[in-house]
Amino acid sequence: MQEIYRLLADGETHSGSKLGARLGLSRAAIWKRVKKLQEQGIEIITVPGKGYRLARPANFIDVEFLRKQATGFEDVHLHEKIDSTNAEIKRLIKQGCLRRLVIAEEQTAGMGRRGRRWASPYAANVYLSLAWPVTRGVAQLEGLSLVIGLAVYRTLKPHLSHELGLKWPNDVLVGDRKISGILIELMGDPADSCFAVIGIGINVNQAVDVEEIANPWTSVLLETGQAADRNQLIADLLANLDFLLEQQANQGFAVLREDWQAAHLWQGRKVALSFADKEIEGVVQGVNNKGELGLLLDDGVRYFAGGEISVRLRNDC
Ligand code: BTN
Repeated sequence: MQEIYRLLADGETHSGSKLGARLGLSRAAIWKRVKKLQEQGIEIITVPGKGYRLARPANFIDVEFLRKQATGFEDVHLHEKIDSTNAEIKRLIKQGCLRRLVIAEEQTAGMGRRGRRWASPYAANVYLSLAWPVTRGVAQLEGLSLVIGLAVYRTLKPHLSHELGLKWPNDVLVGDRKISGILIELMGDPADSCFAVIGIGINVNQAVDVEEIANPWTSVLLETGQAADRNQLIADLLANLDFLLEQQANQGFAVLREDWQAAHLWQGRKVALSFADKEIEGVVQGVNNKGELGLLLDDGVRYFAGGEISVRLRNDC
């Protein structure tokens, strides 16, 4: 099915019969596949009497371009379709392939935090994962997920000037709509040899829902009205990650704390924090040098570490 998308990639109108001839299919079979692609969120316009064309030229991931950008990696693996880039990095680590960047055009079992699914339609967004060696003990994990959020924030900021911000621990939002999610999984023992598997999803050129997504979401395309170049966005993200991860590893999260807080959307807001079967309400004080969230409660400020905690806004007044 994706072959049709590749044939339409130039943005020109292609007749059903020509597409059929290229792929050895009937016009009816082409029509059925076009419908399926449309259901997956790919905007294909039917031009009466002429054929089909993409609403905007396709923007595929260019692995050769990214290999030149991803200098800190031994290789970049690009998959047309994969279960999950995080799952693939874990498989690679088990085989001893450590410094790889895995990118996918589509994920069939994209994973979100707290066991949720991450919608990952074809050729629309960014789905990538990498393994980050944790060589300096547990302290190196402090604030790690916040640092990744900051790298995504800095990458998107030139595209989205207003309302873009961070929600603890590592969601990137535009107002109250999520534009990026980060999943960090640990492999090994932080006290010994360990990897943080860092998975990043950014909604770039997705325009429509392809499956039910529980929380409000948005994309660069929806916010700006313009498709963004996913290759340049990944290149910028890699540069930001490289710089910030080195800073965090060498000097700790403390040096990035002020920058993170400046981008935090919920500073000073009243929130409800849930974990296990508990819910606690308090006013957000910011984060400490370990990246823990400070909440002002009746008996003073208490700090909470990430993991399975979720935070939502309460009415401020
Ligand atoms: C969240 O729930 O906010 C985290 C979403 C993380 C999604 C990314 S997409 C690339 C990587 N592969 C996955 O299966 N998940 C992460």
